[in-house]
Amino acid sequence: MPVSFLMPTKVVYGKDVVLKNRELLRNLGENFLVITGKSSRKNGGLEDVMDALEGRHVHIFDQTPENPPLELVPQICSMFSNSEIDVIIGLGGGSPMDTAKAVAVLLMNPQLDAQELYDPTKYDTAKKLICIPTTAGTGSEVTQFSVLTVDGKKKGFSNQCTFPTLSLVDYKYTITMGRELTVSTGLDALCHAIEGYISLNATPFSDVLALESIKNIRDFLPKVLEDPENEYYRERLMFASTLAGMVIAQTSTTVAHALGYNLTTNKGVKHGLATAVFLPFELRHAQTSKANEVNALFDGSLYRFYDTIGLRLSVDISDEEISKWAQNTSTASHLKSTPGSYNFDKLVEALREVRDVFCEA
Ligand SMILES: [Fe+2]
Repeated sequence: MPVSFLMPTKVVYGKDVVLKNRELLRNLGENFLVITGKSSRKNGGLEDVMDALEGRHVHIFDQTPENPPLELVPQICSMFSNSEIDVIIGLGGGSPMDTAKAVAVLLMNPQLDAQELYDPTKYDTAKKLICIPTTAGTGSEVTQFSVLTVDGKKKGFSNQCTFPTLSLVDYKYTITMGRELTVSTGLDALCHAIEGYISLNATPFSDVLALESIKNIRDFLPKVLEDPENEYYRERLMFASTLAGMVIAQTSTTVAHALGYNLTTNKGVKHGLATAVFLPFELRHAQTSKANEVNALFDGSLYRFYDTIGLRLSVDISDEEISKWAQNTSTASHLKSTPGSYNFDKLVEALREVRDVFCEA
């Protein structure tokens, strides 16, 4: 069967890559809109971007919240609709980058309603988009996906035009991340790599990237927690995260992501943690040689690895919530790419197992 690989983003990777590639950035336009959150003022990201774009018109939206709602996108567009923006820069974690993708589409296609982002037949163009990640986890800098919150639920859209034009990836912005953010983003990347590896959409190309990513996270996430300012460890995690993004750009994510969204939107559990707790169940239920291979990489089970990094959830989950979330997840598109069948009862089983193993209210 023929296989394909598409990741059309130019990626420039390395320390000080923003400052060293001023011309690459500046040549993309005159008017820039930076979409970011609060942390880029602390980790040096915004300072580097402003320095690199000196002399260009730069507008800044720095109020992106975690788990941004869809309604934010038209609000940002109306704030800058008269600014003749040429280039959008998504600077930060997944939230600013995913918001930037949506803004890039709506500013280019002002006739669209925000809900129409979810209908890929309605548009095929976006403003030029630069992504600069400041966490090592989301991989959004090399994917076509944007996940926003719609009516209290996480909902993703994707379109070939929402691959970034350029991604500048520098691990140095992650050095100031605290333990909690390092763990949750690192586990998000691990989920991308593992889900992508066992996905029914996996290809020999994505598998190479996924395995390299998994091994780096296994080896360096525990180490970086011991020695957070170690640049080599931080670099390895950033590399792994970008590889994992390239993987899901081919495969998309699977049931662990779909189940995890319930914990994030209803209980405020960070995305990476909320997703990672479902991986042991997913790997066991997959019953494929690739899932067994992943378990073998962790000495038989991910549980031991999770113990070393202290993965616990401080939430209470009721039987009613489990039932409602299983219902929600039973229609998720992620199930199509997940090995093993997931009916309502199987999803309930996965949710109960996570409550029993990880939750301490
Ligand atoms: Fe994710």
